[in-house]
Amino acid sequence: MSNRVAAVIPAAGLGTRMGGNFPKQYLKIGGVPLLVYPLRILDAIEAITEIILAVPEADLGYCQDEIVQGFGVKKVSQVVAGGRRRQDSVRNALSAVTPSPEFVLVHDAARPFVTVSIVKHALETAYQIGGAVVAIPMPDTVKRVDATGRIQETLRRDPLWLIQTPQVFRFSWLVEAHQFAETKGLEVTDDAALIEQLGYPVSVVQGSSTNIKITRPEDLQLGEAILASQHT
Ligand code: CTP
Ligand code: MG
Repeated sequence: MSNRVAAVIPAAGLGTRMGGNFPKQYLKIGGVPLLVYPLRILDAIEAITEIILAVPEADLGYCQDEIVQGFGVKKVSQVVAGGRRRQDSVRNALSAVTPSPEFVLVHDAARPFVTVSIVKHALETAYQIGGAVVAIPMPDTVKRVDATGRIQETLRRDPLWLIQTPQVFRFSWLVEAHQFAETKGLEVTDDAALIEQLGYPVSVVQGSSTNIKITRPEDLQLGEAILASQHT
C-alpha cells in the first residue's frame, strides 16, 4: 500500500483536570512518560512515514531532547508549538506537514494504550471510506436528563458510540475542515466533528476499552493496571 500517511500528535494541553505541576503527557506510567507510548506504536507502523508532535511552546527543547531523542523515537520529523485549544494544536501541526501526504492520522498523546492492530484497522478503513475514527459501542444505559436532574428519556443505545483516537482522514479533507472551523469560529473536541460538518464520510472502527484517555489522577492507577495486564 503506497498511501503516504503523516501522523499528528496533539500533546500541547495543560492537563488541568489532572492537576499537578506539569502537563500530564510527561507523567510516567511504568516508568515511561505517557507521550512516549503512542510514539512507539506509530514508529512501528510502516505506512506512517512521519510524525509531527505539537507541544507547549515552552517545552519544544525538552520534547525534542528528552522525549524524541531520549527515547529513540525515529519518525518524528518536526516538533511544533501547539495552541490554546486542541484544535489549534492540530491545525499548527497540519500546517507544518509538507509535502502533502494522502492521509493524516491524529492521535491524542494522552492515550498510551492504543495498539498496532487498532491503528492498522483505522488506516485500512480510511483508505476505503476516506475517514475513520476509533470508537467503542456505548457500554452503559444512557438517559437524557434535564437541568434539575429529572430523567426525560432512555435513549436507544445501539446507535451510540464513544469516540476515541486515532482518527484518520484524507489529508486534504482535514486541512479544509480546519480552515472551515477557523472561518466560521467553530469549537470542537475532535477532528471528525469538523469533517462531518463538511459532509464527508467517516466510519467508526472498533477500538478498545483499554484505549483510555488519561484525564484525571485516578486514571494513572488504571493505566498502571492496564500496562501490567499487557505484560502477563
Ligand atoms: N491538547 C493539545 N493542545 C491543547 C489542548 C489539548 O495538544 N491546547 C492535547 C492534549 O495534550 C491531549 C489531547 O489534546 O493529548 C486531549 O486533550 P485533553 O485530554 O483534554 O488534555 P488537556 O487539555 O491537557 O487536559 P485538560 O482538558 O484536563 O486541561
Ligand atoms: Mg483539554
